[in-house]
Amino acid sequence: MSLLVTGGAGFIGANFVRRRRHTQPREKLVVLDALTYAGNLASLDGVDGFSFVKGDITDGALVEATLRDHGVEAVIHFAAESHVDRSILGPGAFVRTNVVGTATLLEKARAAGVKRFLHVSTDEVYGDLGSDDPAFTEQTPIAPRSPYSASKAGSDHLVRAWFETYKFPTLTTRCSNNYGPYQFPEKLIPLMILNAMSDVPLPVYGDGLNVRDWIHVEDHCAAIERVLDAGKEGEVYNVGGRSEKPNIEIIKAILKALGKSESLIRYVADRPGHDRRYAVDDGKIERELGWTRSRQFDEGLASTIEWYRANEPWWQAIKSGDYMTWYERNYGGRGAAKGATS
Ligand code: NAD
Ligand code: DAU
Repeated sequence: MSLLVTGGAGFIGANFVRRRRHTQPREKLVVLDALTYAGNLASLDGVDGFSFVKGDITDGALVEATLRDHGVEAVIHFAAESHVDRSILGPGAFVRTNVVGTATLLEKARAAGVKRFLHVSTDEVYGDLGSDDPAFTEQTPIAPRSPYSASKAGSDHLVRAWFETYKFPTLTTRCSNNYGPYQFPEKLIPLMILNAMSDVPLPVYGDGLNVRDWIHVEDHCAAIERVLDAGKEGEVYNVGGRSEKPNIEIIKAILKALGKSESLIRYVADRPGHDRRYAVDDGKIERELGWTRSRQFDEGLASTIEWYRANEPWWQAIKSGDYMTWYERNYGGRGAAKGATS
């Protein structure tokens, strides 16, 4: 099979590509990524045998040529603008990539006869929960509250429409908060780790009691692979970590693990429209596809802290901005990325 991975230079996409090279070493793997600020080819360093196409999913001609030239049979669609704070500051890019980009990809993939299209979505499309509310199921009404989650909800609706209208073989996953290696340090866990390591204050939004359900990125990637292989066309599968934590508890755990003082904590103005709590009921993927998570949060957080400690060149290149010119420096803006076959 030839598999196209959009957004494969981002956090979850890169972890997925790394996994897939092991689980399906003979499969033809193609990564399509625009290398926005969140894309980083250094996250794929050392991975061999994939093709890399630098390009934007809103560029219909490029998407069409990529699908045709590589004989793509299946797509896993990670590419997105993914950070809520950025969506509040500038929603346009979110609508463009997450809505228009997904529509472009769906239409070109349908025309190319793609046999399986897995859309990677988020639990944030369900909105937020009070402390006693039951967890989101796949039947929970879509009720997004940020420009990011609204644009993801838009993409979910498009995916559903392509299945219902054209019988295009789609699958959708909705996962909770991921953490682990190669996460861009604008998200809570890597930001707090790097700030703590550098004795820089740790900004806590509001009262620090907002709750997220944390899952290790490797467990999410395993779930995606399971849905790609065995999921039922047209279905949505929730994926969660069964590990609900208030933000402040995680922040204090990071400080403790690094031997740093809680005096680094700074309570700052809250995020506008800040969702209070997410919790995911993922019984469906467990029952129907036999997936379950394997990483415990405490162990996963400890190994993630260790990863950031051991991989300073990766995050220093982000802090300095050098990672943005990695592609041009290595390939002069043309040709294949390191490890790529063409
Ligand atoms: P990320 O921001 O780390 O990576 C996004 C990738 O997409 C980057 O490599 C970027 O260069 C690429 N990209 C952005 N716009 C593009 C465009 N127009 N054309 C081509 N490529 C483009 O994101 P992530 O955290 O890895 O999330 C991946 C997917 O998973 C997203 O769809 C996100 O909504 C979803 N998701 C994320 C989480 C999480 O906790 N991070 C949880 C559930 C679902
Ligand atoms: O639930 C899945 C979603 O999780 C994904 O769809 C998104 O792509 C991903 O970014 C993530 O969204 P969140 O908004 O939950 O993640 P973030 O890391 O931005 O924030 C987590 C919590 O921490 C949230 O309650 C806001 C808070 N926070 C965040 C930052 C960056 C802080 O208190 N301080 C901070 O500096």
